[in-house]
Amino acid sequence: METHTSEMWFWMAISVAASALLLLLLLGKKATASSCGRLPPGPPGWPLVGNIFDLGSLPHARLAVLKHKYGPLIWVRLGSVNTLVVSSAEAAMDMFKNHDHSFSNRHLTESLKSDDTISATIALSDYGPYWRMMRCLYTIEIFSRKRIHDTAPVRRRCVDKMIKWISDEANKGASTIEVASFVLAASFNLIGNLVLSRDLIVDPKSTKGNEFFELNSQLTELIIMPNLADFFPYLRWIDPQGVKKKVKEKLNLILEIVGSFVEERRRMVDVQHQQNREKNFLDVLFEFQVNGKDESTKISDRHLNMLILELLTAGTENIVVTIEWAMAELLRKPEAMKKVRDEIAQVVGYDRKIEESDMENLPYLCAVIKETLRLHPSPFLVPRSVVKDAEFMGYWIPKDTQVFVNAWALGRDPSTWDDPLSFKPERFLGSNIDYLGHNFEFLPFGAGRRICPGLPLAQKMIQLVLGSLLQSFKWDLENGITPDSMDMGEKLGAVIRKAIPLKAIPRALAM
Ligand code: HEM
Repeated sequence: METHTSEMWFWMAISVAASALLLLLLLGKKATASSCGRLPPGPPGWPLVGNIFDLGSLPHARLAVLKHKYGPLIWVRLGSVNTLVVSSAEAAMDMFKNHDHSFSNRHLTESLKSDDTISATIALSDYGPYWRMMRCLYTIEIFSRKRIHDTAPVRRRCVDKMIKWISDEANKGASTIEVASFVLAASFNLIGNLVLSRDLIVDPKSTKGNEFFELNSQLTELIIMPNLADFFPYLRWIDPQGVKKKVKEKLNLILEIVGSFVEERRRMVDVQHQQNREKNFLDVLFEFQVNGKDESTKISDRHLNMLILELLTAGTENIVVTIEWAMAELLRKPEAMKKVRDEIAQVVGYDRKIEESDMENLPYLCAVIKETLRLHPSPFLVPRSVVKDAEFMGYWIPKDTQVFVNAWALGRDPSTWDDPLSFKPERFLGSNIDYLGHNFEFLPFGAGRRICPGLPLAQKMIQLVLGSLLQSFKWDLENGITPDSMDMGEKLGAVIRKAIPLKAIPRALAM
């Protein structure tokens, strides 16, 4: 990462020097832009780099502070990228209710333009007939109520395996475990089973030896690293840090592995053609590939591999960070930990495993999850992009503006939430505020057309994983750490992780 940073500074120096020549041109361009209408207010920004350096390493937090000065809509320039930040529940409601269509493209960074198949994923494709068709396919074939119901045994198996791994560690006398690595293995295997009918991780402690997993982490790191080409369009053609090239190389390797899983399944499908076999999502895509009616609905093999990769990665990290933050908040607040464990003991007991069907009788557990998502959502959802020039809350928003909905700031807004920075699951008891995209002060899964389609699956998985971790073990902080001294610092990546991964001691409870 250090090498990335020094390279970036080198190129930044070159770029700023070269850019001085273009300064007048850019200023001229800005004048033309603002002459079309009034842009929202925002910090002034520097020539060329705009506000890049004003936002620091935790831009969601800095932008939440800037809201007090500039109001619920803030205009920032990240290099040459015009960015609108939506920071209040009222503004989010206006956006999702009245402008969802105009704001429903996705913003692609340069690294995401390395390969055509990336923009053909659901999450990153522009709003239009292709996105509608794929979204409909996913909603019916993978996230439908029936499908979610039928795949309960798969979730059970993955969670049981996770509990067994942790029990083995506890029995071996391991002093602490990194909670996230076990949840990651369980979530990855869940999606692996739903999509490919196979486990992808056999040992959560040896993900280092797992090529697929390693490549995937390296790919994510490349995609989220700051890239000068995003900020200075005239540097795009030289790809100054070589990010696009590296992304393409990693992607080729990872798609090759996904391709080998896919081919294995294709052969199996051929063999079992006449037999009654359980269809997974890949089988559905195979059928779709064969039956695609016209050019716009044809899916190449590489494209199909990319869709599988998207599913494997889209949900996993969000599920993992949510569980890690929930466990960290509970360990930091022993009264809440006691309440949730007492509830599980009372409703389920210890003679049988906690089940998905128990959740309706476990309101405090469900409130713990909501409270975690309120404080620790994906900070800017998945950034949107403006489809065509729009008039929004009295301002002119030009086409292609990147849109951040600051879900982190919405969840911590003192004008909406009482004592917003405290972890208080009780606030959700007896309240009908939910994360389904209708309560605009609480949008961890987004809202509108592009709301997270994985929500029903994520909800079931988070409830079962957290409930099982709490039912199966008593958790203690590692030696020397107290609730008051726990570090709750954040690190921004594709999602907000705990800067210092949570380590805790599991003590197995008799079952
Ligand atoms: C805690 C778990 C999860 C959280 C917090 C989460 C959050 C989000 C958010 C904020 C968005 C953007 C919504 C918007 O633009 O309004 C999104 C989109 C998406 N999510 Fe999730 N997600 C989770 C789990 C999952 C899972 C399990 C899957 C699938 C296996 C998934 C697949 C997707 C896809 C494909 C999109 C793109 C939708 C589109 O652009 O039309 N997510 N998610």
